[in-house]
Amino acid sequence: IASNITFFMKILVTGGTGYIGSHTIVDLLEQGMEVVCIDNGINSDQNVLKSIEEITGKKVGFYPNDLCDNEATKHIFETEKPDGVIHFAALKSVGDSMTQPFEYFRNNLLSLINTLQHAHNTGTKAFVFSSSCTVYGNVSHSPVTEDTAQQPAASVYGRTKQMGEVIIEDALQKSEMKASLLRYFNPAGAHPSGKLGESPLQLAQNLVPVITETAIGQRASLQVFGTDYNTRDGSCIRDFIHVCDLARAHTLALRYLISNANAQSIETFNLGMGQGVTVLEAINAFEKVNGIKLNYTLADRREGDVIAIYSDYSRAKEKLGWQPQYTIEDIMKTAWQWELNKNNKA
Ligand code: WQD
Repeated sequence: IASNITFFMKILVTGGTGYIGSHTIVDLLEQGMEVVCIDNGINSDQNVLKSIEEITGKKVGFYPNDLCDNEATKHIFETEKPDGVIHFAALKSVGDSMTQPFEYFRNNLLSLINTLQHAHNTGTKAFVFSSSCTVYGNVSHSPVTEDTAQQPAASVYGRTKQMGEVIIEDALQKSEMKASLLRYFNPAGAHPSGKLGESPLQLAQNLVPVITETAIGQRASLQVFGTDYNTRDGSCIRDFIHVCDLARAHTLALRYLISNANAQSIETFNLGMGQGVTVLEAINAFEKVNGIKLNYTLADRREGDVIAIYSDYSRAKEKLGWQPQYTIEDIMKTAWQWELNKNNKA
């Protein structure tokens, strides 16, 4: 099937110096694709491209532009005429989105509209969109499939992803371009080479980087937000998925779209490990696999948290031939290795 065909494609990756973007570029290059990256650098460092080139021995084209700049975006598309686009670029802090809604709507939606329009205008065939399990809102039952009814989004960030999906659906009705909407669950972990991982310029808020920052001593302790939920140990349940597994799903989605294997012009895929892990279990997994005791306290619930959600990824398995390879232990091991390397303590 699709994965046996060799493609020589030029892929434009927006937000390519970010966490998931950078790991995906490595996979695309290793699978023989040519990559051009756009990133305005507001939450990532251009030096990431050096690490990508070290891992793969290949070069990446780079534009330091903002996709909200319509003229610049148009120029890049007309110059590069990519076969496929992966649109990662977005703001992604749930908390910030509540205090800066205009920034979130402007940045996440305007960049999408510009990217989508110029991709369509320059004949791009495949469009892959970074969506999120947050589009499901506070569901009452897991696992969720792509057809699980969406609840109101718990944050403005989640709203931008719900709206982003709708914009793509409407915009592509009269386009030759096809799209995959990838709904990520909780991305975590780092590249096994130790050369690439999550390095946000802003303070980490997600559980796994907070764990590693606590373990290395950058934070005095870690708070477990809520231990009185109706779950097996009282803490929230999430579906952590290794960033390299996610990266591979993008490569497969592009192949799938370009080889015309998809029946509909837009398809949605859940990307998770298909397993619910509680926050306390995640902490235990980190402690066990790395032999480190974490300093944590049981704290109040965090506003806006979904109680429990995990994925049914059978559609991605069936249609893209995708299956996670890494375990929660691998996630915790690679995340810790990366934290040590970042701090030169390996
Ligand atoms: C996970 C669990 C916290 C920090 C959000 C988005 C989602 C995705 C990832 C991307 C929760 C608990 C956390 C801490 C804790 N998209 N926690 N102490 O909220 O599931 O998902 O980020 O950008 O779309 O909604 O991820 O890692 O913040 O939290 O107890 O210091 O860990 O309460 O239960 P979340 P998270």
